[in-house]
Amino acid sequence: MTEVQHLLAIDDLGDDFRDILQWAIQFKQDPDTDYDFKPLDELSIGCIYEKPSTRTRVSFEVGIHKLGGQPLTLLKGDIQMGKSESIADTGAVLSRFLDGITYRCFGHDMVTTLSESATVPVINALSDKHHPCQAAADLMTIMERNPSLEGERVAWVGDGNNVLHDLMLACAMLGVDCVWAVPKGYEPDTDVVDRAREIAKGTGAELVETNSPREACDNASIIYTDVFISMGEEHLSEKMSAFDGFQVNEDLVVHAKSDYGFMHCLPAHRGEEVTDAVIDSENSIVFDQAENRMWAQMAILTFLCNPAAYEAYRELY
Ligand code: CP
Ligand code: NVA
Repeated sequence: MTEVQHLLAIDDLGDDFRDILQWAIQFKQDPDTDYDFKPLDELSIGCIYEKPSTRTRVSFEVGIHKLGGQPLTLLKGDIQMGKSESIADTGAVLSRFLDGITYRCFGHDMVTTLSESATVPVINALSDKHHPCQAAADLMTIMERNPSLEGERVAWVGDGNNVLHDLMLACAMLGVDCVWAVPKGYEPDTDVVDRAREIAKGTGAELVETNSPREACDNASIIYTDVFISMGEEHLSEKMSAFDGFQVNEDLVVHAKSDYGFMHCLPAHRGEEVTDAVIDSENSIVFDQAENRMWAQMAILTFLCNPAAYEAYRELY
């Protein structure tokens, strides 16, 4: 039996990552495939949520449906997992019915545990440590503007969080420079930074950590931020004061290239990490990012759940 492939962090896609993004861009632009290509025909994908979601839930439900599959959204309060049944048993049971599982959870160990007992692909739909589907959509969005990715320099301003972890890994994998400005004490996890630096050795991506938003934004082609307090951290309100000076506003963005793109995974807390003037500006590509969640995930689902169909479509272009 071939070993099932999961997506827990973006580097799980390894050398296939660039191809998956190119596949997604091609599929998005292809007027013929929308109704004819059904790689998830007869397949059912369960989508478990322990936290709220707008983009992830809707993009998975609609994307699975467009690919001919059946999405089953499973909210934590409605299933036995975590109450009378372990995560491991849930993974084994769901694998008897489903052809893939997406899981949004708190601790990253929870999605790891699910993947260890599941015999179908498990996709991390956000944990406190990784958000690989977001990074796939993000790099797809940058690649749509600049297919070669030559000259891209991504500046992150904000918390050293789950979204940054997969963004830096994704940039490293594709040879894109990435600079992150974080307050002291809110740095990204060292094991993820070490992984990204190891990958960057092979691709030539420059990875830089700083405490200066101004330094990060200097000559940036992309400025990216996220909420300062993530889901599950609501009790850490004292954290906010550490982010004085980390708001992405009109004074900061002047240091980037004039045609820079502003990115945010959303939902945004307007007036906190970003001003209306920036997120509503012509440079903002946040809604392209949101839409690309669906296209990137459709490519990932096809790659993981029906590799033969993924290859067959790739041969067409
Ligand atoms: N960016 C993102 O994951 O959004 P949701 O929380 O709405 O799914
Ligand atoms: N860092 C945020 C991302 C939300 C999409 C969180 O985990 O809440």
